[in-house]
Amino acid sequence: MADATPEETAPYGAGPSASKSARKRIRTHHLQQMKADGQKWTMLTAYDQYAAATFDEAGVEVLLVGDSASNNVFGNATSLPVTVDQLIPLVRAVASSAPHSLVLADLPFGSYQGSPEQAFDTAVRFMKEANAHAVKLEGGLPMVPQVKLLTDAGIPVCAHIGFTPQAEHNLGGYRVQGRGDGASRMVEEALALQEAGAFAVVMEMVPSPVAAEVTAALRIPTVGIGAGVECDAQVLVWQDMMGLNTGKAPRFVKRYADLHGVMLQAAEAYVADVKGGTFPAAEHSFDS
Ligand code: KIV
Repeated sequence: MADATPEETAPYGAGPSASKSARKRIRTHHLQQMKADGQKWTMLTAYDQYAAATFDEAGVEVLLVGDSASNNVFGNATSLPVTVDQLIPLVRAVASSAPHSLVLADLPFGSYQGSPEQAFDTAVRFMKEANAHAVKLEGGLPMVPQVKLLTDAGIPVCAHIGFTPQAEHNLGGYRVQGRGDGASRMVEEALALQEAGAFAVVMEMVPSPVAAEVTAALRIPTVGIGAGVECDAQVLVWQDMMGLNTGKAPRFVKRYADLHGVMLQAAEAYVADVKGGTFPAAEHSFDS
């Protein structure tokens, strides 16, 4: 038998087409410096190799392997069911495919709220087994001891306040947080998380003026999702902003592409080609 050519032996998905560049790995101090310099930065979710490599190449500073993988990868209706064991391989794939972005692992529901020690054990798994650069957890004042223990142990923590999807049953569904009396509480919570050592605070579904007040009060960057333009950074779920998810999008989502349309068209063309006998053609076939 003739030797196999490299073309015949190359595995599919051999690796991201990582273009070599002089860009450095983003660290938490870069994000802090960007706030100090009045420069906005970006965060997108990523759950796999090609999304991670593409968003890294685009210059997205932070890739969040969100517990939103529960909805966007595993097909659950909420973020609650996803487990640490399910998220770890996704974080590992993203971390090994993104040479420049900071990779942020979300701690899933039930894996950190019990105690600071539980949070520490979970965060250590994401750092050791998945090569995460930082972790994110949801919650305000009750999470201050968790943030303190983790940051004291050398694990960068991003906090998440406002609407926190893991608490959706307690919050009565998807609702804007921080209206009325809630505004001063939001500032108080954000300051306490900053003092505990958080390097950034995500604010989800918070009125823009309240998010602006929090942003002005903090040294560390704020990351908005449905929290207005005054935040230091923005985050979106990639399948929402690229139109792969065709369901009703929340008000804060801007659609930048129609990936569902592109993929549907390609899949339909493939089905038609195979059924019509026009794929594979001679150029896709091997001679004896
Ligand atoms: O899991 C996630 O995608 C998130 C963002 C919505 C911030 O936490």
